[in-house]
Amino acid sequence: MKVLLCVSSSIAVYKSLDLVSKLKQAGHEIVVAMTANAQKIASKVPFKSLSRNEVVTDLFADEAVIAHIALTEWCDVLVAAPASYNLISKIACGIADDAVTTLAAACAKPVIIAPAMNTRMYENPIFIQNLDKLRKLKNYDIIEPAEGYLACGVSGRGRMAPVEEIIGRIEALAAPVKKSPLAGKNIVVTAGPTREYIDTVRFLSNPSTGRMGYALAESAVKAGARVTLISGPVSIKPPAGIREVINVVTTKEMLEAVIDNFDAADVLISAAAPCDFTFNRKLTEKAAKMDIINNGGFKLAATEDILKTAAKKKKKQIVVGFAAEDNNHLENAVRKMKAKSMDMIVLNDVSTKETGFASDFNKITIIKKGLENSPADYEKASKLECAGIILSNIEALMKKEKRKKSDVL
Ligand SMILES: Cc1cc2nc3c(=O)[nH]c(=O)nc-3n(C[C@H](O)[C@H](O)[C@H](O)COP(=O)(O)O)c2cc1C
Repeated sequence: MKVLLCVSSSIAVYKSLDLVSKLKQAGHEIVVAMTANAQKIASKVPFKSLSRNEVVTDLFADEAVIAHIALTEWCDVLVAAPASYNLISKIACGIADDAVTTLAAACAKPVIIAPAMNTRMYENPIFIQNLDKLRKLKNYDIIEPAEGYLACGVSGRGRMAPVEEIIGRIEALAAPVKKSPLAGKNIVVTAGPTREYIDTVRFLSNPSTGRMGYALAESAVKAGARVTLISGPVSIKPPAGIREVINVVTTKEMLEAVIDNFDAADVLISAAAPCDFTFNRKLTEKAAKMDIINNGGFKLAATEDILKTAAKKKKKQIVVGFAAEDNNHLENAVRKMKAKSMDMIVLNDVSTKETGFASDFNKITIIKKGLENSPADYEKASKLECAGIILSNIEALMKKEKRKKSDVL
């Protein structure tokens, strides 16, 4: 890939040197452009040495070349990392008053933005609006910053995303070459459990680890899809290349995140295990054990069904659900698929310890709408392999839909 790396001023500039080095080692070509303020934090010399190209700092340095036009025609992707508050806001407002912002203005190729800044700046309402403007543009991909220790000495959200994640996102752009029907599609994957609290520390949940959903998200990224991962509390790291990770805790939060992202989705894969029950009340502080018992305990109430609610808004979306069953497998899965207007259901057997919850393996059966009598059984396989099988079945559904449409035309 030909990468035009725009570097603005943040202490994370030093991580961009690692980014250049790793991209170069992976065989990519890189041209670096730096803002004037970035050069006050790091010299352009190491960027020049590592990229083995001149660093662009001044559009008027060589009048014979119109750099912003030539470079944005040359590159496959423009990556702004680190992207400062100032750089993001300027791009969002259409300002082009230096080399970096003018390159962004002239770029019609994919643009990847990796913000890095202090938490208060990241949470500034003006900045949120500016970043949202970019998020809505089709060729812009925002890599959310991580939480952690910041250069200003406090902890919070604002650390530039890990270099590996940025590389994953860049390389995912090359994936459409594989011509997967998933390339460029918006895929929303839910993963992990949800929690329903009775007080500030006690909750109802289930043993889901999120591994199946995360494996699906990883495979979808590799197929070139734009993946939004909506995850309950899990202890695994999101795979590289995810467009947006939305962390939720309760079933209601997961439902809201799914609904917010459903209209723009081409495919919804619901691999999460949300709690089916919540409590009739939640205490605002930790209660003593006997107080809970003596005050009548808690009653269970059903949570709103995420897939069923989302599927009601269904237009073009392919909706895929999971059924974790330990008895009456097929019958229950087919009933679930019909009740929730799914196009496909993945049945996983959770009756043994070797497959299903908290295992690296799964044994799946896939049932498609209209083919309820022909379930496809697969051998026990790793969750990543199962993800590949599930995605190829979704690809087949997409091809079928496309054929149907062209028959009508
Ligand atoms: C040492 C230092 C570190 C800074 N780190 C950041 C940062 O991480 N993110 C940010 O948005 N601004 C940061 N700033 C503030 C920017 O440098 C400032 O807003 C500048 O005008 C941005 O210019 P640029 O976007 O053209 O590089 C930092 C400033 C200093 C002095």
